[in-house]
Amino acid sequence: MDAPESGRSTIPIPHARPRTDFDAVIVGAGLIGLAAAWRAAQRGLRVALTDPEPGSGASHVAAGMLAPVTEAHYGEERLLRLNLASAARYPGFVAELEDVAGTPTGYATHGTLAVAFDTGDRAMLADLAAFHRRLGLASEPMTGRECRVREPLLSPDVQSGLFVPGDHQVDNRLLLAALLTAIAREHIALYRERAAELVVTHDVATGVRLADGQTLHADHVVLAAGCHSTSLPGLPSGVLPPIRPVKGQILRLSVPAGAAPFLNRAVRGVVRGRQVYLVPREHGELVVGATVEEQGFDTQVTAGGVYELLRAAHGLVPGVGELPLTEVRAGLRPGSPDNAPILGPTDLPGLIAATGHFRNGVLLTPITADVIAETLATGQPPQTAEGFEPQRFSEKAALT
Ligand code: GLY
Repeated sequence: MDAPESGRSTIPIPHARPRTDFDAVIVGAGLIGLAAAWRAAQRGLRVALTDPEPGSGASHVAAGMLAPVTEAHYGEERLLRLNLASAARYPGFVAELEDVAGTPTGYATHGTLAVAFDTGDRAMLADLAAFHRRLGLASEPMTGRECRVREPLLSPDVQSGLFVPGDHQVDNRLLLAALLTAIAREHIALYRERAAELVVTHDVATGVRLADGQTLHADHVVLAAGCHSTSLPGLPSGVLPPIRPVKGQILRLSVPAGAAPFLNRAVRGVVRGRQVYLVPREHGELVVGATVEEQGFDTQVTAGGVYELLRAAHGLVPGVGELPLTEVRAGLRPGSPDNAPILGPTDLPGLIAATGHFRNGVLLTPITADVIAETLATGQPPQTAEGFEPQRFSEKAALT
């Protein structure tokens, strides 16, 4: 492909690289790829995105919970800090995006209520509350009755709860739509094609060959293809660790128009040891998720998955049994070996990673976009990305 005239000064490049069409080609147009492209273009970079079906993968299936505190886990304090930092960027991120796109994102800040059902569930929630206290995270223990004052449709069997005022939600599908508008406004080239091969010239990533045969030459390639990131042909072995697909089945129900609000905020619970979350949208949708299944690239929905989710959701809020079931989908979360994202330059010059977000892809979208744009613009990832480098999985890192 011919490079567009850019007016930039030309610096001699070793090995006579092909003249580039773009400063960066981003493989994958889910939330991560789209937001990174938008932020990079805002910094004046020439960006292309490639994806056969933009916005159709895990980003589309997700529930849009922004839950760094209710999803905090022991031993993942570094990830928690990144999650909190990204949550803090959400208000500015969505305000700017809504302004540019002219459409809403469904960002709602009503907090999250985590509830427990039986004695074992209560103990798990009490452990989580103690963890929050130790880390100074805002969460407020509640009795079952106090939970029902906030959410009158909760089952009388709910025994206790934890109100987390800083865990919010966004409508991931509205967010995708707004980002697609924003990248069009920035005149970012969107190729609705599968990336068939990473082009490597003299040990440098120099572009991407598309399934239709054309090659996009770029100074940098950003891998943002979720669980498909590491199966891109041409990617030298050892540059990135394997990213595993972790299946999540998720349901959408519909609350009839004009009915009283079904839930006022995201409610999550442990029902006899099984985790479930219910996320109400302003326009009447109720998202119920999600299974966590490790069985490869399988997006089949199963009777067992739907049954387990509905049983747990019905345990928390018996009224779900009356709601029309409008959608059942399965998405594949991209899991890295330590379940934390992989961000920044790899050991293959020219190749940058933005993958492995596992259960936090929607939440980590703003900070990932900023990290990737900064890396592309300056050659250096910002300090926020420290500890999430691709090199942390290398043999040498494992020995130190
Ligand atoms: N963060 C929600 C999920 O992965 O199911």
